[in-house]
Amino acid sequence: MKRLFTSGLIFVLLAFSSFLGSTYCQTLAPNTKAVSSNGAPLKLALPVNDGSLRFAVIGDTGSGSSKQYQVAEMMVRYRNLFPFEFVLMLGDNIYGGESPKDFEKKFSNAYKQLLADKVKFYATLGNHDLPLQTHYLNFNMDGKEYYRFKKGNVAFYSLNSNYMDKKQVQWLESELAKDTSEWKVCFFHHLPYSSAGKHGSDEQLREVVEPIFVRYGVNIVLCGHDHVYEKIKPQKGIYYFVSGAGGKLRSGDINRSSGLTDKAYDRDMHFMLFEVDGDQMYFQVISRTGETVDAGVMARQKRG
Ligand SMILES: [Fe+2]
Repeated sequence: MKRLFTSGLIFVLLAFSSFLGSTYCQTLAPNTKAVSSNGAPLKLALPVNDGSLRFAVIGDTGSGSSKQYQVAEMMVRYRNLFPFEFVLMLGDNIYGGESPKDFEKKFSNAYKQLLADKVKFYATLGNHDLPLQTHYLNFNMDGKEYYRFKKGNVAFYSLNSNYMDKKQVQWLESELAKDTSEWKVCFFHHLPYSSAGKHGSDEQLREVVEPIFVRYGVNIVLCGHDHVYEKIKPQKGIYYFVSGAGGKLRSGDINRSSGLTDKAYDRDMHFMLFEVDGDQMYFQVISRTGETVDAGVMARQKRG
């Protein structure tokens, strides 16, 4: 207990130091230009409707590489056009060491501008993440390895796919059973569906979660782990996305003959933007250099 408290205290102090600004690691030059890396104007494929819910999604970010920082900078540029309120993190938030300096280099310095602008991050645990991350204030996990929060008409479920044990499954079922939200979004690290060569579909995980998603009307599932972008063809009426290239890339890893792929991108790193307006959910996928690699709209599934 004492150890847990001490760890929690370290994370509190860490979070404070990140907000106060640190001299560690690189700093980003302020850049508010609405242009891509090659100087072309940024293109927004989202409507930015009054009263809509707007958020971003990143996965497998925590490398601390210069390219992670470039993705983060492109998110800042896009936020000038599309003021998203919060960011979902799909796991592998911190690769390697998890000292306070690692949290700075691999997270808080990379997203310094977004944190300064009061954008909230909601994390989920990947296979490289220690459970102590749940106490890191900037991840808004409140000490929990799985949790639910709600924004407008959308309920978000962050799951710990490292250990999809009975207790977590029971919690998920009981929460979903009483959830009257119009949209239900589940996000976690491992992949019920993926066409990437490195990991691909985790059929054991799928067997556990898919019947629950179907039974309780989950609309969208967001996962990381494979370092690519993929929009899976709807499976049993559910939209699945793979977004695991916010800080690492596995170039050319998509197996396009899998039959699962609606759209995929594995040539550069990326992040995603989402906008929910009533029964429509719009999305746009943007590369590290500002290129739009996918965009579209999904209608809320009608279920009996
Ligand atoms: Fe992973």
